[in-house]
Amino acid sequence: MSELPGYVGYPWVGDNSLEFYRDPVHFMEKRIQDYSSRIFQARFINRPTVFVGSAEAVKKLLNEKTQHFDMGYKALWQGLYGENVLFSDGTEAIALRALLIPLFNREAVSGYQNTVERICDRTLQSIPAGKPVKVYELLKQMSTEISMGLFLDIEREADNSLGPHVSQLMTQHWHGIISMPANLKLPTWGGNWESGYSKAQEAKDELLQIIRDRIGKNKHNNVLGLMKTAGFRSEDEIYWHLLLFVSALVPKAFSSLFTSFTLQLAGPSKASMRQKALEDETFLEHILLEVQRLWPPFIGGRRLVRQEFTLAGYRIPKEHGLMYVTHTAHRDPQIFPEPHSFKPERWSTCNAGHEGYLCAFGGGPRRCVGTQLVQLVLKHVTKYLLRNFHWEVTQAEIPPYKWLPVSRPTVEDQVIFTPRDSSGEEVEMGVEVAETSL
Ligand code: HEM
Repeated sequence: MSELPGYVGYPWVGDNSLEFYRDPVHFMEKRIQDYSSRIFQARFINRPTVFVGSAEAVKKLLNEKTQHFDMGYKALWQGLYGENVLFSDGTEAIALRALLIPLFNREAVSGYQNTVERICDRTLQSIPAGKPVKVYELLKQMSTEISMGLFLDIEREADNSLGPHVSQLMTQHWHGIISMPANLKLPTWGGNWESGYSKAQEAKDELLQIIRDRIGKNKHNNVLGLMKTAGFRSEDEIYWHLLLFVSALVPKAFSSLFTSFTLQLAGPSKASMRQKALEDETFLEHILLEVQRLWPPFIGGRRLVRQEFTLAGYRIPKEHGLMYVTHTAHRDPQIFPEPHSFKPERWSTCNAGHEGYLCAFGGGPRRCVGTQLVQLVLKHVTKYLLRNFHWEVTQAEIPPYKWLPVSRPTVEDQVIFTPRDSSGEEVEMGVEVAETSL
């Protein structure tokens, strides 16, 4: 058993959080090179923290070592979310997951399909032909409407004023979440903590009130109805989980994936890849795996070590923090040859059967509860785009990405969508597209 490479420094003065928040990819790459190890330690949020960027070690960690650590979000976010499964551990987490999983398994999700598709299609049908579109913003708006439709039963047409108000509250709540490290007198991800945090608290209270009202009024067998009868111990527990689901975190993550998909498949040079994805569902799935591998929406996940254990031959000390860094693990050359290249075909060749090395949705017993729902939305939206459009980006090259708080290009990329006719050819610009060809 070896000691971890790296320095944990002294409280506060030795903290590396600012460097991590500024550029987490560089933070990881530099240390991996310096220590010749994809696992190392550094002081982060003023705690000695183990950073794990090896695909093999992350897989082991999430699947086989969970009894040795707790989730690491409670101190940061509980004030803005209340109690929910993400902050719970041990038997409590098992019990909450047992209530949530039946609400989001394949069968349950197929019951939400109509709502999801109706909301998506409204936005997708409104994409203007031949004009530059801010794709991240457009798809974030659509994903926000999906969240509001599913988790609050609000749809734009029916609740004209409530939708925009909830959307604004979600943003206000989000600003408190991304400035949370300032709570610990650390660098922020943007914004002024004092005002950002208290405004976020106000947004939380109002969102909880809206959730209460919506669930009280609801008479349908939708997510709200199912949450009510799922067996949660208290009404507050239901409201807190719905607050987590309607949080801006989820729409931003959706939009991050849609944006990366759109940018990667843009332009005439990708026309044959788009055509193949349209005809071959497995190939589309491989594209989506490759998108989440290279551009996972969240940089990683945080844990607190409860009991010393060994990982990849290193001693992981009790009370250390722990970060599994998804971006780094997904680009580990030990598992993914040519790790920085977008190669969907790897999933049927050198990386066939290696889906278990991906952790964009976490893994093991704490894997994301919403993955089936995410798959439904991703498939519907990407198929719609492939079926109905060719598209290209307005810039010569895709701008570099920022990775926090959610991955996306540093400059808002504009995409021009051109309708396809039913033969797959581009429709001449300015010609109205018949409904039947969409
Ligand atoms: C693109 C969208 C999404 C992404 C990228 C995503 C990603 C993740 C990740 C990485 C985790 C694990 C965090 C960790 O290991 O520390 C997680 C957990 C979770 N996700 Fe998602 N998620 C998405 C959408 C959703 C949706 C739509 C729901 C709602 C049903 C959801 C519900 C949850 C819950 C409840 C957990 C906590 C599980 C637990 O603590 O045991 N997620 N998600």
